[in-house]
Amino acid sequence: MAAPGGAGPIGPYPEGVDSDEDREDYDKLRRRVLWTLPYGLYVVGSRHGERRNGMTLNWATQVSFDPKLVGIGVEKPAFTHELITEGGVFSLCTIAREDRAVVRKFTKPVEVDLEARTLNGFEFRDGTSGAPILAMAVAWLDCEVRQAVDCGGHTFFIGEVVDAGFHAEEDTEVLRMEDTRMNYGG
Ligand SMILES: Cc1cc2nc3c(=O)[nH]c(=O)nc-3n(C[C@H](O)[C@H](O)[C@H](O)COP(=O)(O)O)c2cc1C
Repeated sequence: MAAPGGAGPIGPYPEGVDSDEDREDYDKLRRRVLWTLPYGLYVVGSRHGERRNGMTLNWATQVSFDPKLVGIGVEKPAFTHELITEGGVFSLCTIAREDRAVVRKFTKPVEVDLEARTLNGFEFRDGTSGAPILAMAVAWLDCEVRQAVDCGGHTFFIGEVVDAGFHAEEDTEVLRMEDTRMNYGG
């Protein structure tokens, strides 16, 4: 997935990058550098009332020991953004490396079957916070939003971990960005 936008190069520019061509070149170079940052790859669960979603996301990191805070960067147009803003909760699920195909199933709003308790056919249960947690997750963090930092095109939601656990063996290899041929960001 390419970086969103298409509105032309984005500043600021280092000294000496003055012409349109230089700016284009620098913009591409900076994107390539950003793409080399190593990331994990997750499914984020979100919920407001009876509306739920699951979304593929790589911009996730722990940001504090005490309290236990985890942050995720979410695009403002995403349905997930709406649900987290209104519901104030999210879950972060790691996925087994062998299940990499799952990533493509969570790139647009999912079909929720409340009777079968599935998101796009994948079984879920509601965590302590109320956010959906995939049964197939290797491990999961259940979070309540403590801060929402406006970052322009994205919001960085910082959540406190209110519950956590494993569904699979602790040493199961989990999915990373490098396991896909996709880019996000840059
Ligand atoms: C490999 C990959 C990584 C992604 N990482 C993020 C991310 O970190 N943050 C984000 O907002 N969207 C990310 N997306 C895009 C979302 O999965 C999704 O397409 C979009 O945000 C809409 O989700 P929605 O169902 O909430 O509307 C990524 C997509 C792919 C394929």
